[in-house]
Amino acid sequence: MGLRFSRLGSVAAAGVLAFALAACSGGGAGSGGGAPEAGGATQAPEDLLVGVSMPTQTSERWIADGNSVKEQLEAAGYKVELQYANDDIPTQSQQVDQMITQGADLLVIAAIDGTALSSQLQAAKDSNIPVISYDRLIRDSPNVDFYVTFDNFQVGVAQADALLTGLGLKNKDGSAGTATGPFNIELFAGSLDDNNAFFFFNGAMSVLQPLIDSGQLVVKSGQTSIEQAAILRWQQETAQKRMEDLLTGAYNDGSKVNGVLSPYDGLSRGIITALQNAGYGGAGNPIPVVTGQDAEIASVKLINDGVQSSTIFKDTRLLAEQAVVAAKAYLGGTQPEANDTETYDNGVKVVPSYLLPIVTVYKDDIQKELIDSEYWTAEEVASGQAG
Ligand code: GAL
Repeated sequence: MGLRFSRLGSVAAAGVLAFALAACSGGGAGSGGGAPEAGGATQAPEDLLVGVSMPTQTSERWIADGNSVKEQLEAAGYKVELQYANDDIPTQSQQVDQMITQGADLLVIAAIDGTALSSQLQAAKDSNIPVISYDRLIRDSPNVDFYVTFDNFQVGVAQADALLTGLGLKNKDGSAGTATGPFNIELFAGSLDDNNAFFFFNGAMSVLQPLIDSGQLVVKSGQTSIEQAAILRWQQETAQKRMEDLLTGAYNDGSKVNGVLSPYDGLSRGIITALQNAGYGGAGNPIPVVTGQDAEIASVKLINDGVQSSTIFKDTRLLAEQAVVAAKAYLGGTQPEANDTETYDNGVKVVPSYLLPIVTVYKDDIQKELIDSEYWTAEEVASGQAG
């Protein structure tokens, strides 16, 4: 099916210019710049190229995200260039540059460092290429058109609630639990160059801070700021190292850590390894309550085995679907529909966003939320490995 572009005159004029420029530069598969053809002629999806830039393949969620976006765009007929940047900022910049040179008509970007792509985005803007920020907000640039993500503040709230539930201070339904504490906890946060890290941490602290203030929760290390809790690039090994340091520092007097706020399953696995190496999880020494995010298969197995307490499930298939809905809107010459136009100020403008809901998963929820929904199979959950 051909697509008919119906943009406003000025945008169309810019598009014609971009088209001409792309033609001059021998601009690859796409027409260059999501641009309507001169005279408003129809343009078939197979003539349009979407560049998809993902941060890393070391985390399975981004592989799933990349594959879902690519499959869904291809099913709609578009050409797709999918690249992973190995968590390396210059690599991502180069890959995005290349997508623009190839004549991409639209970009979908999950940034490694939310502030590092400004010149690429300016080039995209100059070629009239719409940019969709995927899951992580691109900051400090006016040239971000749309943001698809989950309710990230709510992720943090849910992680803190899951920590309190695991400790017995709260019940799943939000009512007060039977435990009273005080409990020793430690706090972890994500990468400070990822805008999401702040939303997760602030969401969690909105729940935890009053209990820390009242003494029911004790952060024995005293490390309560996001800068102290942050783990650069969300690295599992770095989280393991920090947990080891916390144990040998704040807990060398025989006291026990009862719970750990972890914002992401990869960090949770590093934290759990450090705890197990220090003897937690053995007889009479229960593994602390550890939270997570992303429902990564290795962590879902740990939850199933009673080692990790919970994760936050964000269905990446739905996020990909939403990115594709937004992409189709732009490529069809319309604006995607936002359901939040207030929360995500990127430092230059509030980026219209589409936020998806999240689900907390404890052991009891694995069947319903992850297996029945066909996110993972029962075999994968049992083995801890995808595929
Ligand atoms: C965040 C994302 C999380 C997690 C983390 C590490 O930006 O929202 O779901 O994937 O990166 O990859």
